[in-house]
Amino acid sequence: MEIHAFTINIFFTALILTVSAAAPVDVVLVEFLLSGQKTATSLQFSAPTLDCVEEDLKAKYSGIFNISRVRIFDQNITTCDQLSQKSSFWATRFYYREVQNNPVMIFFAAGCNNAEASLGSLARAWNKPLMIPVNGDPSVANKKRYPTVTRISPFIQEDLNSAMHRLLRMFYWNNVTILCDDADDHLALFVPMCTALHDSLRLTYNISSSRFYVNASNADDLQHYLEEAKSISRVILLIGHGSRIRPIMLGAAKAGMTNGEYVYIAVELYPSRKQLGTLQWYTDNKDGQDEAAKTAFRSLLKVSLRPTERTTEYLNFMDRLKNRATNYGYFFGPDEALNPFALSYYYAAAILFQVMNETVSKGNNLQDGVALSRLIRGRTYDVMGHTVAINWNGDRDAQWIISQTDPSTGDFRPILEQATFNGVYNLTRSYGSDGTEQRIVWYNSNHAPLNEPRCGYRGLKEECKAESFAISAMIVGITVTVVLVVGLLITLIVLRKSIWEALRRA
Ligand SMILES: *[C@@H]1O[C@H](CO)[C@@H](O)[C@H](O)[C@H]1NC(C)=O
Ligand SMILES: *[C@@H]1O[C@H](CO)[C@@H](O)[C@H](O)[C@H]1NC(C)=O
Ligand SMILES: *[C@@H]1O[C@H](CO)[C@@H](O)[C@H](O)[C@H]1NC(C)=O
Ligand SMILES: *[C@@H]1O[C@H](CO)[C@@H](O)[C@H](O)[C@H]1NC(C)=O
Ligand SMILES: *[C@@H]1O[C@H](CO)[C@@H](O)[C@H](O)[C@H]1NC(C)=O
Ligand SMILES: *[C@@H]1O[C@H](CO)[C@@H](O)[C@H](O)[C@H]1NC(C)=O
Ligand SMILES: *[C@@H]1O[C@H](CO)[C@@H](O)[C@H](O)[C@H]1NC(C)=O
Repeated sequence: MEIHAFTINIFFTALILTVSAAAPVDVVLVEFLLSGQKTATSLQFSAPTLDCVEEDLKAKYSGIFNISRVRIFDQNITTCDQLSQKSSFWATRFYYREVQNNPVMIFFAAGCNNAEASLGSLARAWNKPLMIPVNGDPSVANKKRYPTVTRISPFIQEDLNSAMHRLLRMFYWNNVTILCDDADDHLALFVPMCTALHDSLRLTYNISSSRFYVNASNADDLQHYLEEAKSISRVILLIGHGSRIRPIMLGAAKAGMTNGEYVYIAVELYPSRKQLGTLQWYTDNKDGQDEAAKTAFRSLLKVSLRPTERTTEYLNFMDRLKNRATNYGYFFGPDEALNPFALSYYYAAAILFQVMNETVSKGNNLQDGVALSRLIRGRTYDVMGHTVAINWNGDRDAQWIISQTDPSTGDFRPILEQATFNGVYNLTRSYGSDGTEQRIVWYNSNHAPLNEPRCGYRGLKEECKAESFAISAMIVGITVTVVLVVGLLITLIVLRKSIWEALRRA
């Protein structure tokens, strides 16, 4: 009986292997998307990317995989909150209806924390790979809990927080104020970024952080929070739309806070005038304050993701993508690029198919999502001429650039680069086009601003009190002496006069 079953089993396995060698394997890509353009990975950005993905994969793997695609979305579901109510239901319904015919399925998440966590649990139960773009929830990084999840986009929260912490540590800055401006937050990025940064600096990195929500276009409000910041820190982190940074820097100049004693660190994740705005002092001098703003910007450092390399493949892809996007009602600006979060869908698919092809070639099981996800980790991939590094935890490592303005031209130029791979962190100086190291130039000073001035933030430290007491005592002393001397002289003159007169009378 047992031997008989064993024989049948072998026979079936052999049959499947023969068949799969001959016919392409059916693979279905399942996309859960948010409609609209309210997040960096909403349908208007990610759908055209995923369309190009399908075309390229079909061309590359034609004899090997028979690729089909299912997009699950709802016209009326445009925010992560709305999606969190739906995504498990959508996934479950799709899975049980389709899994019989399409055992090899791959999920692409929408880029929403809650939805990713619940999809992650289902993907584990079904043993299917789940590729996620943005991830704001550190718990999804726990791959013991979510063994089939690969996080393929830069992780704006944890990655940004640790990049910021490294920058602060480099200059011994321990006390920071975070000013958050949530105006024009088209992609709903700034508020979560502020919260995560504030929490993680305090709780993970033991940095004393205070956070205020400020309205940069209201001068009184701005002055109020700058004064607050002044009394507790010399390092001020700015999170907000690019167009809000100039007014903040001008306000700081007005408050006497751009004299070189302060440093401002603003985040511009990637260049996108339309979505994130641009950090710039230059306005064609519309308000007559360009020079003042240019000087104020000398106290500013900018933290950005390392820009996407403009390889030939990438430029071709962007042309196709911009065309595609018009089908979805989105029109890219002339110098607008695809954001790195939506671009990560392309990397995700390219990487997964490379690993699936290896798996098929070795005759291994494509239905084992845990095994596929493990195979992805701890490697670098070449996609469109870009090096994409996935660490041992199945997360993509981000690379950051820190820039400051050139004192003469006022253009931003990179000064430091941070790269991490597999937990090995590398900080390097940037090099100019002439091959020389870019020096960091501190405004009005030959060293980085101190974390705390010698006399404290309010100039009230004990030793300074003693000093100022000594100084006032000295001033009182001098005044008293002057008064006494003058008094004596006057007395003398008066006396001389009276003596003279007395003599004349006599
Ligand atoms: C590819 O899959 C589709 C269904 O998804 C099917 O109709 C078609 O016959 C398959 N093609 C091949 C070559 O297997
Ligand atoms: C979307 O919402 C509108 C109005 O609330 C409703 O009329 C429409 O049927 C909804 N569409 C879908 C696809 O649910
Ligand atoms: C946190 O920082 C303070 C001041 O720099 C220091 O006294 C304290 O020991 C630090 N705490 C930890 C847990 O590192
Ligand atoms: C910010 O301040 C400006 C100018 O005072 C005002 O018009 C605007 O409504 C304020 N924005 C918010 C969100 O309060
Ligand atoms: C500055 O930070 C240290 C801990 O890093 C803290 O002990 C100190 O109170 C902070 N100063 C102010 C003014 O918040
Ligand atoms: C798939 O894998 C095989 C075996 O490793 C390799 O020869 C082939 O080039 C791969 N196909 C693609 C499109 O990468
Ligand atoms: C760190 O950066 C330097 C200069 O770019 C490079 O030579 C070195 O290999 C890097 N180290 C690691 C561990 O990546």
